[in-house]
Amino acid sequence: MTANPYLQGNFAPIESEISSTDLPVQGRIPESLSGRLLRIGPNPVNAVPEQYHWFLGNGMAHGLRLRDGRAEWYKARYVRDDEVTEHFDWPPVTGPQAALSIGHGVANTNIISHAGRTLAIVEAGNLPVELDYDLDTIGRFDFNGGLTGGFSAHPHRDPDTGELHTAVYSPLWQHIQYLRVSAEGEVVHRVDVPTPGKPMVHDCMFTENYFILLDLPCTLNEAAMVDGLPFPYLWDENYGARVGLLPRDGSAQDVSWHEVDPCYVFHPMNGYEDEQGRVVMDVARHPRMFATDRHGPNEGRTRLDRWIIDPGASKVSESCLDDYPQEFPRIDDRRAGKSYRYGYTAEVGAGFVTGGIRKHDLLTGQVSAYQPPAHQHCFEPVFVAAGDSAAEDEGWIMAYVHDDERNASDVIILNAQDLEAGPEATIALPRRVPYGFHGNWVADPV
Ligand SMILES: [Fe+2]
Repeated sequence: MTANPYLQGNFAPIESEISSTDLPVQGRIPESLSGRLLRIGPNPVNAVPEQYHWFLGNGMAHGLRLRDGRAEWYKARYVRDDEVTEHFDWPPVTGPQAALSIGHGVANTNIISHAGRTLAIVEAGNLPVELDYDLDTIGRFDFNGGLTGGFSAHPHRDPDTGELHTAVYSPLWQHIQYLRVSAEGEVVHRVDVPTPGKPMVHDCMFTENYFILLDLPCTLNEAAMVDGLPFPYLWDENYGARVGLLPRDGSAQDVSWHEVDPCYVFHPMNGYEDEQGRVVMDVARHPRMFATDRHGPNEGRTRLDRWIIDPGASKVSESCLDDYPQEFPRIDDRRAGKSYRYGYTAEVGAGFVTGGIRKHDLLTGQVSAYQPPAHQHCFEPVFVAAGDSAAEDEGWIMAYVHDDERNASDVIILNAQDLEAGPEATIALPRRVPYGFHGNWVADPV
């Protein structure tokens, strides 16, 4: 029997919750950083190696609280679902029920704060799980009845309105749903866009005028579902690949579709409309997805591409910005949906293990990097602006890091304008943080 790589090394789960205070710091934490660096990933309690898919491990939330230049606490908490509560004999999770519950109601892919709530979120049908400030589970949450299915792991906040734009999909639907949530947390717009099959839609983009849908050839495979594959989305050679532009206040009939070479994109970096009215999209492009490896994303070199749709064009024009393997693109979120100059990614090596952090100057094409020793692995780089009036890229990159030699984890804080200089601060965590998915900086309310 082959060991499942997503249960080995630092992919392996940790076995308990933890709380730790007054963490040791090397260097200096910027005093203006007051809030929590949140992160989430799979941490299965009952994984069967032959079956386990990385996307379905029970969620564990990690949080590092900073204030007044100190690392006040680190906490790791299970995001409770029906399997976790049964395993530990904890009370059932309360709250609304989704029409479909995948993996016992798991919520493991992203962790955000919106309208004053901390939410663990996931795609493909399950509801968000609300956590309190200390990451303890409150219960499932459906935006006050606003969800007709589940939610998404990648809502994007419009910096002008505070609204969230996101794409929702479900094994029960043959459409992608565009959902807009107000700054107050109410669903204010919903459009179901029919699709030829049931695509896995991990992420999305928006621009000044459009919501952008990715209809790509990794789709629900009915035969795999019958066979009991836990996450039955597989590469479909015959599906085609296209990008849809939906006017933000339009209906499904208003979508224009534009062909792209078959590939898979989990994560766009950003999308915007340029001065010529073209729609520009920067994406982390996988050549295929779930074609040969059915346990996690591992189908070859992931590069950073630029896609452009000219007004009236039926096809997307594609070019490669950087063919170094990389994933988890992030930006200064104040530029979401707008023209922008800087993006940050995590380098990806064999087995989808991350390494250094790359910074792209998209105006000059220049790439700079923070290159840690080979035994250290930086997770998704999260940009935090130095203040409301700070320029784009003026601020910090924060990342959880795993050190193979110590089998321990740190959080590093880098000056975004000088990644090569190395960390301004390194905060030692009391225990390793497994490889996982996404996180965000959530500033404390002022
Ligand atoms: Fe993601």
